[in-house]
Amino acid sequence: MSTMLGPLELDRPVVAAAGTAGTGWELGEVLDLRCLGAVTTKSITRAPRTGNPAMRVAELPTGMMNAVGLANPGVDGFLREHRAKLDGLPCAVIGSVAGESVEDYLFVAEALASSGLDAVECNVSCPNTGDGRLFSDNPAQLQTLVAAVKAAVGSVPVLVKLPLDFQPASPAAQAAIDGGADVLTLTNTVPGLAIDPYTRRPRLGNGPGGVSGPGIHPMVVRMIRDVYTRVAQRAGVPILGLGGVFNWEDAAEMVLAGASAVGIGTALFADPKRAKKIDAGLQRWVRDQGADDLASLVGAMA
Ligand SMILES: Cc1cc2nc3c(=O)[nH]c(=O)nc-3n(C[C@H](O)[C@H](O)[C@H](O)COP(=O)(O)O)c2cc1C
Repeated sequence: MSTMLGPLELDRPVVAAAGTAGTGWELGEVLDLRCLGAVTTKSITRAPRTGNPAMRVAELPTGMMNAVGLANPGVDGFLREHRAKLDGLPCAVIGSVAGESVEDYLFVAEALASSGLDAVECNVSCPNTGDGRLFSDNPAQLQTLVAAVKAAVGSVPVLVKLPLDFQPASPAAQAAIDGGADVLTLTNTVPGLAIDPYTRRPRLGNGPGGVSGPGIHPMVVRMIRDVYTRVAQRAGVPILGLGGVFNWEDAAEMVLAGASAVGIGTALFADPKRAKKIDAGLQRWVRDQGADDLASLVGAMA
């Protein structure tokens, strides 16, 4: 059940998503992390951020909506207070990076990579702040950003996390690949707005937020399939599928669409132990399909 995400080898195919596993180590207090291939830190910025006003999360019939606003202790605070707690985890650690400029991304990515994290993920798709969106909305700038981060982190693998895109052959996916991305993470939350009919105010303090959970899953599967067949497979760039995975069947769908590994976010809030069930279910599925390994089922939609 090991899987290759480009140069990053994961022992297991399930990955805890950015912002849903604390800074990474906290998840180990409620889940045996041996069932995960990797944990992803919450997105880390150059300076500390307090994030958006309450309420920051709202429950939806189809999952949840959040506007946390990239609250984090900043890269120095992360290195001082959290980095050492990630040593010795039984899975890889991916450092998520966010920022407002190429310089911000370089600064944080370089610091995380040289601290010995296994990979960095450029979050260029946060729907709750202006950060990063500048890049995923502009393919030329995204390519420049990814190329600069690649050059700055040496041999440390670079994942690029993109927003849901309804356009065919996502131009952002192509730009990330042209910039040298080792892995595409598809996708972040989907922009949304929830309004309380009594107060007539938005349910989240920020106003709009990002929708996640089962409601976005079919859209994400479609994008994975589209990017895999039109762009990523040819380029040899693997996909980390992420969006609304709640059980092993959802994860298997992503693999068949073209994902080499599967992230889970909202499911961890519902029940962290789902990660173990999804991992075990995928393992049974690979065996039942008569496949030698998960890799032989990647993109194998009939
Ligand atoms: C409360 C919350 C906080 C999040 N924070 C981040 C973040 O800091 N950085 C990031 O790249 N994605 C963040 N995300 C997005 C998730 O990593 C994931 O892309 C998204 O939720 C879709 O996956 P899911 O449906 O399995 O939750 C956050 C999601 C939630 C629900």
